[in-house]
Amino acid sequence: MANSNITVALLQWYDANHRIFPWRVSPADRARGVAPLPYHVWLSEIMLQQTTVQAVRPYFLAFVERWPDVHALAAADNEDVMKAWAGLGYYSRARNLKKCAEQIVSDHNGYFPDNVADLKALPGIGDYTAAAIAAIAFNRPAAVVDGNIERVVARLFAISTPLPAAKAPIREQMSRLTPQDRPGDFAQAMMDLGAIICTPKRPACGLCPLNADCAVAGRDDAEAFPVKPAK
Ligand code: ADE
Repeated sequence: MANSNITVALLQWYDANHRIFPWRVSPADRARGVAPLPYHVWLSEIMLQQTTVQAVRPYFLAFVERWPDVHALAAADNEDVMKAWAGLGYYSRARNLKKCAEQIVSDHNGYFPDNVADLKALPGIGDYTAAAIAAIAFNRPAAVVDGNIERVVARLFAISTPLPAAKAPIREQMSRLTPQDRPGDFAQAMMDLGAIICTPKRPACGLCPLNADCAVAGRDDAEAFPVKPAK
């Protein structure tokens, strides 16, 4: 099926406005066939689970300098990994990170699985992270849904069901919109739109590339979506 207006408009916006992070490959490089290393995508997504992009950046750079691939991380001293993680918080993430690296080496020959089901079987990898790695590292059309994407999609379609029940229709819309040809760029474009334009408070609807297709653009209640759980 042809990509929808929303998908085409968002990818066009991303090509010109994407944020630059050390774990990303630019859309131009991707179009030339460059893919990000699965190790980098995995490490960044684990770090980003409960931590902001600004806080993650120096930790990500320090980790890949010290442990340049999954073999190095699997062979690292547990103590050293925990020390390098210090400051990021949620230390179970670091313990699972190390366990996951060891399993990738012992059970997968050092290669990350390229599909959601096998990724989800690994320590520390849940629905979100499995979809993000499959889409961003392996160009699989997995529906990636994090908090930012939830907000963007809930607004686009004015989904009036409160969370958490809204998660199902949001995921369905994200599946439908995700293009076969650029799923990783599309997921990251949604994240960037949520971070830059479709912000929790006072979204910049006037600057939004999806304005013409958005159910709440031009209304004064964009902030009401996603609808909070009933008390
Ligand atoms: N938050 C979680 N994953 C991200 C990514 N790949 N890019 C930017 N922000 C993110």
